[in-house]
Amino acid sequence: MGSTRPGRNGEAVAKWVYDHASKRADASFELLDLHDYHLPLFDEGLPAFRQYQHDHTRTWSEKIDGFDGYVFVTPEYNHGVPGALKNAIDYLYQEWNNKAAAFVSYGHEGGARAVEHFRATMVELQIATVRGQVMFRFETDFENWTNFRPSSRHEEALAGQLDQLVTWSRALRTVRDQSVQ
Ligand SMILES: Cc1cc2nc3c(=O)[nH]c(=O)nc-3n(C[C@H](O)[C@H](O)[C@H](O)COP(=O)(O)O)c2cc1C
Repeated sequence: MGSTRPGRNGEAVAKWVYDHASKRADASFELLDLHDYHLPLFDEGLPAFRQYQHDHTRTWSEKIDGFDGYVFVTPEYNHGVPGALKNAIDYLYQEWNNKAAAFVSYGHEGGARAVEHFRATMVELQIATVRGQVMFRFETDFENWTNFRPSSRHEEALAGQLDQLVTWSRALRTVRDQSVQ
């Protein structure tokens, strides 16, 4: 869940994703809220080498390391992802490598610009990003810009995206087994 804003729409969107994903039999899913990790503005010297100074980083590292893939649920803030999400991403490096990711975004244009930008960050982290993207627009998927009322067509899009995410996440396990960092 990429937003930490008080009153965030992200909670309803992430819950929708989680509710659909957790019905699948081919993978297990967990919903992460950045709020729970209490990450301050980036305060580690050498994240790329996993030499962490702080307990908040160790806790975050252990959590992220345990997954084969990720679904980032993010709003668009000034045509990018929220600073809190980018900050959390930058804390780690090896934990993200050779994993897969999918995106669910929301905003006036469905958060399209934020995710296009974010995909470039994924390249540096050696995360393989699936082609599809579920995009919710305020005009069609939220009442009064706040009550999340997703059109049912998004369910099919999410299912297709998760099919690919699960396949790629599994396949990349073999790459991680052989990889030299
Ligand atoms: C700092 C900030 C910047 C924003 N910039 C954009 C933007 O560039 N494009 C857009 O579609 N919406 C933008 N919005 C509107 C957000 O998409 C909208 O407020 C959304 O609900 C934010 O997600 P959240 O409620 O989960 O925090 C912005 C909102 C904030 C707070």
